[in-house]
Amino acid sequence: MKIKYAVPVVFFVALVIIQKENNIISRVSDKLALKQTPQTPIHAGRSGSALARRNVSVPSLAEPSSAFTLMKRHLERYRKRQLEAAPIINGRKDILLLATTRTGSSFVGEFFNQHGDNMFYLYEPLWHVEKMLTLETGGTNATATAKAYCNVLRHLFLCDFSLLESFIEPLPMDHITASLFRRESSSSLCQEAVCSPFVKGVYERYRCRNTRCGPLNLTMASESCLLKEHRAIKVVRVRQLEILRPLAEDPRLNVKFIQLVRDPRAVLSSRMVAFPGKYKTWNNWLTNKDADIDDNEVKKLKSNCDNIRMSVELGLRQPLWLRNRYMLVRYEDVARSPVNKASEMYKFTGIPFTPQVKDWILKSTQVSKENRGLYSTQKNSTEQVEKWRFSLPYKAVQLVQKVCGSTLKLFGYRFVTSEEMLRDESISLIEDFL
Ligand SMILES: *[C@@H]1O[C@H](CO)[C@@H](O)[C@H](O)[C@H]1NC(C)=O
Ligand SMILES: *[C@@H]1O[C@H](CO)[C@@H](O)[C@H](O)[C@H]1NC(C)=O
Ligand SMILES: *[C@@H]1O[C@H](CO)[C@@H](O)[C@H](O)[C@H]1NC(C)=O
Ligand SMILES: *[C@@H]1O[C@H](CO)[C@@H](O)[C@H](O)[C@H]1NC(C)=O
Repeated sequence: MKIKYAVPVVFFVALVIIQKENNIISRVSDKLALKQTPQTPIHAGRSGSALARRNVSVPSLAEPSSAFTLMKRHLERYRKRQLEAAPIINGRKDILLLATTRTGSSFVGEFFNQHGDNMFYLYEPLWHVEKMLTLETGGTNATATAKAYCNVLRHLFLCDFSLLESFIEPLPMDHITASLFRRESSSSLCQEAVCSPFVKGVYERYRCRNTRCGPLNLTMASESCLLKEHRAIKVVRVRQLEILRPLAEDPRLNVKFIQLVRDPRAVLSSRMVAFPGKYKTWNNWLTNKDADIDDNEVKKLKSNCDNIRMSVELGLRQPLWLRNRYMLVRYEDVARSPVNKASEMYKFTGIPFTPQVKDWILKSTQVSKENRGLYSTQKNSTEQVEKWRFSLPYKAVQLVQKVCGSTLKLFGYRFVTSEEMLRDESISLIEDFL
């Protein structure tokens, strides 16, 4: 008993000693301190906003990433505990893959989509919710969307499409829709059991690729979902892990959260290519010497980084409601060894890793050069993962480092201090994870 408490105490004392070194360490250890005191209720929201109110310190560039070291140690401990505590138990699992755009989430989502007959996989169902709740200003009311996201996900994990239906435009009639976003990305929605007879003359934008099916009958989808053992949903729209707490606490569900993150510099680079319209002001700033960067763009970038960082901090803190339910994955590690990472994710969820998934990964990561889809990028992973280093102007890299510094540090992405360093491939910008 005594030893059991002594270990965290020693660890905490050690933390206090190094606390003065670094602002970020103190933030993480604050949380660890909270965790060591069971009587203290943890209000993620409160500590989250307290964090946000503090000035973001731009870490000095030469400094080794001590926040990352700390997180690594923390991860090791919780992972060990997780493996001890979570043997593969039979029973249903609800997997939620949380990411943001351009972090490789489609690729990682496939790890579950390819699982086989036991898995019901949905790709971005929240697209409809966000679309309907988008205000005239182009933004959304964060409180309202968070609530809707959580409720829709809860219904979907229970194989109930009724709430999602109310967000689909045009509104489905008799539970039939020709407009479900990216239907073809869910193999579960194009299987025979969900494939109603093809109807001539009905245009379906997101129709099944390999099978000719009629518009989606959501009653059939729901019936098929209920017959599957596990469910997995991929989302890029949830900003804060915290809003999903009701899912973890719902006794009808058994949710496992997998959060996928990627170097914000790489994400920016990829988004500028993927959404040139949205990044017009960035491009203007980068190409025009006299142009200033739009304040709002910087704020958006900062808020994205902060949201991801706060979600990860919450996940790693492992409050009771998240215990054994949270896994953090860096896209760079997936790209380096996709099969190992996929197998680790399966181990975490407690679902056996199937040969189909492994075969799919091997096949997809060995696509020839001329077939330059998303998955072909895996061939020379090191090269692909670091491609942004040659496309993103140094000026933009500096800005991301300034605005997202604490996020970079926490996840183990190294800062560059010169353009030469940025372009020098022999210098790795990724700290080794576990
Ligand atoms: C935060 O930054 C502002 C403006 O740069 C400054 O006025 C303020 O004193 C800083 N607060 C702290 C706690 O450092
Ligand atoms: C956002 O939505 C919440 C809940 O629906 C509502 O109470 C609040 O007034 C809304 N805020 C704004 C700024 O519209
Ligand atoms: C949709 O599927 C359900 C369940 O299989 C079936 O009862 C219903 O008739 C179908 N709807 C249409 C319009 O075909
Ligand atoms: C991948 O590309 C990097 C950089 O061009 C190179 O150093 C490495 O040898 C390549 N790896 C493989 C497996 O081809």
